[in-house]
Amino acid sequence: MKISNGVKPLIVANWKCNPKTLTEAKELFEGIKKEVKSVKNIETVICPPFVWIAKLKGLKLGGQNCYCEECGPYTGEISPLMLKDLKCKYVIIGHSERRIHLNETDEMINKKLKAALNAELTPILCVGEKKGENAEEIIENQLKSDLQEISEKDLKKIIITYEPVWAIGTGDFCEADKAKEILEFIKNKLNNKILYGGSVNSEIAKNYIDVGFNGLLIGGASLKADEFIKIVKNV
Ligand code: PGA
Repeated sequence: MKISNGVKPLIVANWKCNPKTLTEAKELFEGIKKEVKSVKNIETVICPPFVWIAKLKGLKLGGQNCYCEECGPYTGEISPLMLKDLKCKYVIIGHSERRIHLNETDEMINKKLKAALNAELTPILCVGEKKGENAEEIIENQLKSDLQEISEKDLKKIIITYEPVWAIGTGDFCEADKAKEILEFIKNKLNNKILYGGSVNSEIAKNYIDVGFNGLLIGGASLKADEFIKIVKNV
C-alpha cells in the first residue's frame, strides 16, 4: 500500500442510482464493510443514493449531490445540512452525469460547493472533458467557474476528481500515464487532493496511485463487493 504525499489514498464508491432495493444496498454495504474495515492506510467512503444513507452504518459516507440552500421550498432537493445530520463527511458535486443529464451549470456547482463547505462537508468536485474536447481548456474553465469566490482556506478543503467523461462507465479508462498529465496540470493550479475516476477496476487501480493521484472515484466496480474490495486492497 502506498501513501502518496503522506496522505492515505481515498477510495470513494459512487453507487449512482443503484441498487434498486434497500435489501441489496445493505447486502452490498455489509459485504464491503466486512473486508475493508480492517484495511489500514486507505480511507474508504461509500456514496449511496440518498434514501439508503440513514440505513447504512460502519463506513464513512458521502452524498452524490446536494442542493445549494440549507432548507426551504425546494421540492425534491436534499440540503448539505441534511447530509451532515446523517453523518456524511463528503459530497460529490458537479459529476458529469448531473452536468449532462440534469443541465447542472458551473454557476450551480459553485453555489453547491459553497453550501457544502458551509455545512462542513468535504466536497468532491468532478471535472473532465468529453471525447474530442481539449482537456486542459475544459478543466481550466470548469475550475475557474466552479471555484469562484471561494476563500483560500475553504478552497484547500475541496477534493478535485479528474473524470474524463468518455471514460465513465465505458471500460475505456484513461491510461494512468496520460491521466498524470492532467494531474500535473491541475497541480500547477491548486494544491488540493486530486482523485481519478473513469472505468477503474482492480487491475489498474494502483497505477493511478503510483503516478501520484491521491485516490479514486469508483462507479461500476463499486457495485460488486468483491471487485471493490480488491481495489481497496490492491492500492
Ligand atoms: P465508472 O464511474 O467507474 O463506472 O466509470 C465513475 C464515476 O462516474 O464516478
